Amino acid sequence: MISLRDAKPRDIPAFYAMHADPESNRRGAFTPKKRPAFFLHWKKVLKNRLIVKKAIVADGEVAGYVVSFYRTGTGKPKRREIGYWVAREHWGEGLASWGLAELLKTHKTRPLYARVAKTNPASLAVALKCGFRKWKQGSYANEKGRTVEEHVLVLRK
Ligand SMILES: CC(C)(COP(=O)(O)OP(=O)(O)OC[C@H]1O[C@@H](n2cnc3c(N)ncnc32)[C@H](O)[C@@H]1OP(=O)(O)O)[C@@H](O)C(=O)NCCC(=O)NCCS
Repeated sequence: MISLRDAKPRDIPAFYAMHADPESNRRGAFTPKKRPAFFLHWKKVLKNRLIVKKAIVADGEVAGYVVSFYRTGTGKPKRREIGYWVAREHWGEGLASWGLAELLKTHKTRPLYARVAKTNPASLAVALKCGFRKWKQGSYANEKGRTVEEHVLVLRK
């Protein structure tokens, strides 16, 4: 059985285990945070009422999350973006697609944006399945100074 519920402080260790997975970071072109920084980050996220954050629970275990947040610090007009992460042992079970679709039923802010590294075709498939459409190409320098090419997608309705 799968369900989506508000994320809670007790979910942070499970979120950290997913975040620490090297293959997840490779595909998403992410730089993993160290454990203390990750916990601090999520404690702030959980307190921030502008961030929608839901845990995906599969058979009673936290298997992933979906979030919607305003990107800050870019100097550009704020855009609301979504993000999702599923524990590697659950990849390919449809959890990210289900969780995002479920979130979009109640979270009605539009437009909504998604940014997906070009090295992450599974994530692109999830966003497209949930109605997002490619809007433009982007790139940014990650924490290691490497350029990451990405798709920027938008959901307008
Ligand atoms: C991306 C991620 C969220 C996908 O989660 P998931 O629960 O396995 O996704 P789903 O099972 O709902 O759907 C995956 C889709 O990608 C497709 N897919 C998987 N690998 C693929 C590949 N190499 N090329 C193209 N499509 C691929 C699957 O076929 C599936 O589509 P389908 O249902 O039409 O067949 C998961 O891999 C993850 O958490 N990765 C690490 C964090 C991350 O990258 N987050 C997204 C940041 S933008």
